[in-house]
Amino acid sequence: MKWDVNKKENGKLIPTTLDVRMIDTVELNQVYIFISEQRNALPRKEFFAKETEEEMLRPFIEGGVILGMFDEKKLVGTRYFTFPKPDTHPLAKLLKLTMEEQKGLAYLKSTVIHPDYRGNKLQYRSYQWLMEYAYTMGYDRYITTIHPENNYSLKNMFDAGFEIRELQRLYNSEEFPNGVWRFILYMDIAKEKDKYVENQWLSPEDIEGALRLLNEGFVGNGYENGKIRWCK
Ligand SMILES: CC(C)(COP(=O)(O)OP(=O)(O)OC[C@H]1O[C@@H](n2cnc3c(N)ncnc32)[C@H](O)[C@@H]1OP(=O)(O)O)[C@@H](O)C(=O)NCCC(=O)NCCS
Repeated sequence: MKWDVNKKENGKLIPTTLDVRMIDTVELNQVYIFISEQRNALPRKEFFAKETEEEMLRPFIEGGVILGMFDEKKLVGTRYFTFPKPDTHPLAKLLKLTMEEQKGLAYLKSTVIHPDYRGNKLQYRSYQWLMEYAYTMGYDRYITTIHPENNYSLKNMFDAGFEIRELQRLYNSEEFPNGVWRFILYMDIAKEKDKYVENQWLSPEDIEGALRLLNEGFVGNGYENGKIRWCK
């Protein structure tokens, strides 16, 4: 595929065309280096879990897909997703998905876009591609996690139709021994959307408030003026 984008260069936007295709096994080391470098450059490290090469790539080797976005030969974006076997994925267990629901489940592991290429909606566009690809293979339910203050990611996933269903501390590591907060977002494209009658708005940092609303049966599904919309 070819995707037209604008690249930031010396303070200007330069039109360019990305070559977008699935990553091959021989390119995995390049993917690991790209994701790790972008992760290390993030001002908020808790937005993106640090992984060793083995941890990062194992799900790919077990049947995952990585969409790579290349400018000339340079990797500038990745969209990584997997198809977990039913009853094996901890997030599916947290959401108490039935075995039937888990059969068609794709896990959206990560999206990383090089800063010079951000602002082209590549997270959203790569999701649209993923959804069509996964759907033709029988996957119509999607699960992912996002840090509550990762507003760029949250906006994109709300635009795609995802809803926040849970909030938990996940991914314990040496760097973050108590884990990091993550919204767990879910979407079932075959299911008719619920009709909501009640709305509340909370700041992303309001963890207590979000936990309370989730407990009361609210889901998060929108972002405006720096606040998350919660509906019931
Ligand atoms: C989340 C991410 C993939 C979104 O990239 P994207 O698809 O290019 O973002 P969008 O096109 O929706 O960007 C919308 C706006 O937010 C800005 N923006 C996006 N991500 C930004 C970031 N991390 N920091 C500052 N501004 C950012 C864009 O420049 C754009 O601004 P504009 O409208 O003035 O041009 C990207 O920010 C990223 O790679 N972040 C680091 C990794 C990460 O957090 N991944 C998600 C969890 S797996």
